[in-house]
Amino acid sequence: MQNLIRNFFIALSTNKFLNKKARKWGFRLGAEKFVAGTDIDSVTLTIKKMNEQGISCTVDNLGEFVSDKEEAGKAKRQIINMLEKIHQEKLDCHVSVKLTQLGLDIDRDFCLGNMREILDAATKYCIFINIDMEDYAHFQPTIDILKLLLKDYQNVGTVIQSYLRCAEEVLDKLKNVRIRIVKGAYKESPAVAFQCKTEIDQNFLKLAKKRLLGNTFTSIATHDHRIIRQLKKFIQENNIPKDRFEFQMLYGFRQEMQYELANEGYQMTTYMPFGRDWFGYYMRRLAERPQNINWLIKDVFRLTRKKLS
Ligand code: FDA
Repeated sequence: MQNLIRNFFIALSTNKFLNKKARKWGFRLGAEKFVAGTDIDSVTLTIKKMNEQGISCTVDNLGEFVSDKEEAGKAKRQIINMLEKIHQEKLDCHVSVKLTQLGLDIDRDFCLGNMREILDAATKYCIFINIDMEDYAHFQPTIDILKLLLKDYQNVGTVIQSYLRCAEEVLDKLKNVRIRIVKGAYKESPAVAFQCKTEIDQNFLKLAKKRLLGNTFTSIATHDHRIIRQLKKFIQENNIPKDRFEFQMLYGFRQEMQYELANEGYQMTTYMPFGRDWFGYYMRRLAERPQNINWLIKDVFRLTRKKLS
């Protein structure tokens, strides 16, 4: 049953018609709980509040699978505006981007050009850029673009998903690159990805431990308290310095645990999505954790009551 629900929401997340419609609806279905703002000014206020609590942020201008150059160009400008805002307001924040928002499906060189403009601005302001990892169809193109960018920029890294069978091999090749480790949020075939939660969790632990023993900064991105508990023990046992890694969680998820980790002296970074393109992101969050559907149901009831009264 859980798998059926997961597949249903993942299928919705890629539905182009609903994604387009949702931009016009404004936040609906409980999405505001997981999206940190509608525009740069509103997300800036939320980032400031998180920073005041000792929490760093990574901000994501929502949007993916863009199919025209004008839209990709707009996304690039919005990201550069966000970089300027981070600099002006001295926010403790870096930026996460998705290559399909910047034209990866249109033309690889166009996407690469957009990334170079973003990285030129980020370099000027000493801000790190993380390339989020999307579905497996975009995995190799993302790694290829990253490798080209690494020839000219140092402030760029990406994400490795522990559900991928090739994760460890690729991670080993990116030994000197800043990496975020996640479990993986897309539906992938058994040929390329583990399907069983235990295998995905075990691989996550294996990859995280391997990175923690190395010298390059790693972001451990999970809400899984069991994995966090085991890694905290491993970190203590191996005297791993706290400036070599951080924990990351999504905005709206396990807020208390985020504060706890920050208070214990761990670097804690919250992923802050903002903007009108919330639908795909929100549907993937519903796929991961069916309990989140409560927010959707509450919102549907609220809207229905409003219509009837
Ligand atoms: P999982 O969903 O397996 O949950 C494990 C356990 O933790 C649950 O069984 C429950 O007990 C507990 N738990 C989880 N959430 C809880 C909650 N809200 N409240 C209470 N208990 C809870 N994916 C991707 O493919 N590409 C990417 O670039 C990224 N980027 C990214 C950045 C950041 C900062 C995060 C945190 C995640 C991503 N992801 C991602 C998403 C990631 O791949 C994954 O889908 C989600 O993080 C869900 O997996 P978890 O590791 O949180 O554990």
